[in-house]
Amino acid sequence: MSDVTNRMAVTGEGEHGAFSYDIVWTDDFKQLPSEISAICKNKHGKICIVSDSNVSALYLQSVTQVLNNDYSLTLPFVFPAGEEQKQLSTIACLYEHLLAQKMERSDILIALGGGVTGDMTGYAAATYRRGIRFVQIPTTLLAQVDSSVGGKTGVDLKQYKNMVGAFHQPSLVYMNMQTLLTLPDEEFVAGMGEVIKTALIRDPVLFSYLENNMDRILKKDSNAMKYVIGTCCSIKAAVVREDPLDNGLRAILNFGHTIGHAVETEKHFSWLHGQCVALGCAGAAWLSCKRGLLAKADYGRIISILRKYGLPVSVDGLTEEEILHACMNDKKREAGKLHFVLLNGIGNACIEEQMTEQELKEAIHELICK
Ligand code: NAD
Ligand code: GLY
Repeated sequence: MSDVTNRMAVTGEGEHGAFSYDIVWTDDFKQLPSEISAICKNKHGKICIVSDSNVSALYLQSVTQVLNNDYSLTLPFVFPAGEEQKQLSTIACLYEHLLAQKMERSDILIALGGGVTGDMTGYAAATYRRGIRFVQIPTTLLAQVDSSVGGKTGVDLKQYKNMVGAFHQPSLVYMNMQTLLTLPDEEFVAGMGEVIKTALIRDPVLFSYLENNMDRILKKDSNAMKYVIGTCCSIKAAVVREDPLDNGLRAILNFGHTIGHAVETEKHFSWLHGQCVALGCAGAAWLSCKRGLLAKADYGRIISILRKYGLPVSVDGLTEEEILHACMNDKKREAGKLHFVLLNGIGNACIEEQMTEQELKEAIHELICK
């Protein structure tokens, strides 16, 4: 297998013209000052670090220490950890904090944490003073393989996932792979839900690697994780380059998310996002098989890999009708786009425009614990 480089560029044509930024993989925070100086010539500019209560307790001091000599750091903004904080009320508190710290348009925000921190910091960066720059320092597997790349930012509105948001690309994504060592196992496994999804939509080689290297991956072996994260990031970067504003191809990144989001909502966020995506992948794979796009043996491989990594392939405590209703609500909100992502074989996602409610109902029926 070829080595995955520790630097990769993400490029594309966004709402405000062309963008280009680097994703960097390292094993510490030492290179952070020089990476930031490459994107920010103004050493007198301010930096405000945004983090949640868990991640700040672990990493805020180290990040502050490496940046303190070269940059003027404001007081950090720390919010209680959890998806339930991903709301406009937290963003309002963050705006007030930025104002109190006299953050200007030329200053920079740092998102230090998982997808919740990244999505919220990105949204605040997109809107505060009509847009300032931000750096992603993702510390969960999910954020490293998915949410820190591609510029989707936002918050939930009541129970509706990512209902309010903006496209705003980061200026840099800096990953310290060692942060995965403190991540709770359940969160790591949930991140594997997005990893398996990424392999399923675009990369049969990655899928086989995940099947054959489970021990190394679950032990967070550094080389194995560099390969897995690097491959996922290059897949995501390629999709984002082609469709940065989510007008077509980018929908494939939402494989497993229709049923996934429905279950996440109906379970009132008691299941982790990556677990819901995994369940949704099982449902979408069943539909792909039913339609004759996916071989039965490959459907079996998908269910088997999800199970082996400890991800759910069935759900209890919810009825078929509850999940279906939440799926249809989600679809209605997509302004008439009733597309559904299926698999034309492992590693080859396709967008299906004609999915009937009855088909979806049958897939959900398969997922309910009997
Ligand atoms: P999260 O940010 O809530 O992090 C999960 C938990 O792990 C939190 O309790 C956090 O405090 C803790 N944590 C984070 N890093 C840690 C570390 N290194 N050591 C110990 N604990 C650590 O959740 P997540 O799973 O990272 O992200 C889920 C969110 O990402 C959802 O809101 C989802 O909608 C969003 N998402 C966004 C995109 C996108 O493209 N923007 C893509 C996928 C998911
Ligand atoms: N996570 C879906 C996307 O970035 O489009």
